[in-house]
Amino acid sequence: MSVIKGLLGLLVGATLSTSALAEGTVLVAGSTGQTGRLIVTALLENGFNVRALSRSAERAAGLGDGIEPAVADVTNPSSLSGIMDGIDAVISAIGGRRPIGANGFEAVDWKGNRALVDAAKAGGVNRFLLMSGGSAGRDGFMHTLPIAPYPWKAKAEDYLRQSGLAYTVVAPGGLRDEPAGRYGVRLARRVDYVVGQINRGDVAEILVASLKDNRTIGKTITVINDETRVPDSWRAELSGFPRD
Ligand SMILES: NC(=O)c1ccc[n+]([C@@H]2O[C@H](COP(=O)([O-])OP(=O)(O)OC[C@H]3O[C@@H](n4cnc5c(N)ncnc54)[C@H](OP(=O)(O)O)[C@@H]3O)[C@@H](O)[C@H]2O)c1
Repeated sequence: MSVIKGLLGLLVGATLSTSALAEGTVLVAGSTGQTGRLIVTALLENGFNVRALSRSAERAAGLGDGIEPAVADVTNPSSLSGIMDGIDAVISAIGGRRPIGANGFEAVDWKGNRALVDAAKAGGVNRFLLMSGGSAGRDGFMHTLPIAPYPWKAKAEDYLRQSGLAYTVVAPGGLRDEPAGRYGVRLARRVDYVVGQINRGDVAEILVASLKDNRTIGKTITVINDETRVPDSWRAELSGFPRD
């Protein structure tokens, strides 16, 4: 009997670890951004519903039909109240555009993401994917300067890792605006990260593919384009990528 129970346990465990979120509603923070828009499109193409967070109802509604706009400002955590109701997963692609100030890197990239993680936990949303940056958390003058985004993104990554949520961090190199699938992609652990560039379309595809594969939980994946690789070969590498 105990052998059968053990086998059943193994089976359930294996199913849970490989099962995918194939449908549901995803809250996209940063939905109106240059990458966020592509994430929204990729989610819709994959059959998900999207709740699009923006500080502006107009900007969120402008994303198109079939999207549920949600107005909030991550620098004001109380504005996130109720935003997680009915949500199955969060993808955050927010970013401050200024180094300092009320909507700078510390306020948005760190404290804003912290507020989203807290809201997800409070709202019972277990799955959280964070778009960070390849150089976050690296040593060196340029990476630790408080007027650079990297130390703030590193704090957000750490907070998410320690949150208990089922997380995936996707950390791209410099972003370019070419379509997805033009080049191959090099997936690397942070320690093996080589500075490079990647198309925003590829980042969006990687985030949505990660959402759909629970084997990406607990991973920090840096991503850059690599013209020596076959486009889309990264898809087969996601599941076997090492955990943190
Ligand atoms: N540029 C690069 O080379 C590079 C490289 C690696 C990683 N990254 C990071 O990748 C992420 C996406 O970059 P991107 O260029 O696609 O972004 P982006 O076009 O600058 O968009 C930023 C998004 O953040 C949202 N946002 C800003 N402040 C907010 C606030 N207080 N409350 C709620 N939402 C707020 C904006 O929404 P609303 O204005 O509609 O509210 C917008 O949707 C950023 O974190 C960026 O730092 C960038």
